[in-house]
Amino acid sequence: MIFDVLTLFPEMFDIFSYSIIKRARDNNLIRLNIYNIRDFTTNKHRKVDDYPYGGGAGMVMQAEPIYNTVDYVKNIYGYKPYTILMSPKGEVFNQNISKELSNINHVMLICGHYEGIDERIMPLIDREISIGDFVLTGGEIACMAIIDSVSRLIPGVLSSNESFEDESFYSGLLEYPQYTRPEEFRGMKVPDVLLSGHHENIRKWRRYESLKITYKRRPDLLKKIDLSNEDMKMLEDIKNRKKEK
Ligand SMILES: C[S@@+](CC[C@H](N)C(=O)[O-])C[C@H]1O[C@@H](n2cnc3c(N)ncnc32)[C@H](O)[C@@H]1O
Repeated sequence: MIFDVLTLFPEMFDIFSYSIIKRARDNNLIRLNIYNIRDFTTNKHRKVDDYPYGGGAGMVMQAEPIYNTVDYVKNIYGYKPYTILMSPKGEVFNQNISKELSNINHVMLICGHYEGIDERIMPLIDREISIGDFVLTGGEIACMAIIDSVSRLIPGVLSSNESFEDESFYSGLLEYPQYTRPEEFRGMKVPDVLLSGHHENIRKWRRYESLKITYKRRPDLLKKIDLSNEDMKMLEDIKNRKKEK
């Protein structure tokens, strides 16, 4: 998968020179191309922003350098990649959007900064995405969160023992609790079932714990998934136990 990123702060993306994403880049599973929007200005001071028309605080990124950068990328490939604008006004990112994007071969992500970007870049944009109902200083951190989350869904990026299928949100539920060695730590023991080697009981325990934490913390998620008969029975039990407490 190819990610083309347009930003005023390319150095921030050095974070992708570490860990799993580095390995994925080294193995050519993902390609990350960072373009500095400032390199595509036509004025001698390499200025990329200006005061907002109508007045008000802050500076607004100009449309021209962004169009120039997009034209440059278009010339490389002969088409404009699916283009996403990082924006607090966009649809809120989640695992389903991440899965959708992982099926697109090539995306271009535009990071705003300062007070925002001249509205006239909108004809370039296929989708606006926010990473939550809060305002960041720039789109870079949002863009990194999206690249990271999408990359780990690309086949081969995670090794088999780093699989994402059981993780929170993938199946629509939050993940069950995880434990590793030692069996006892500061008086806290690993649940017996996980030491039993009985795969079916372990599967059931994990499903039950997933349903329990989802019911407790994110009951809204339960309305969005198909529950099996086994799930319904488990949920009934979870609710009854809660009432008893
Ligand atoms: C300070 S923000 C601009 C906020 C804008 N004035 C507003 O009120 O909607 C600068 C840039 O950060 C990025 N950004 C800020 N918050 C974001 C969020 N929650 N999700 C994605 N990008 C965000 C966007 O690219 C935005 O253009």
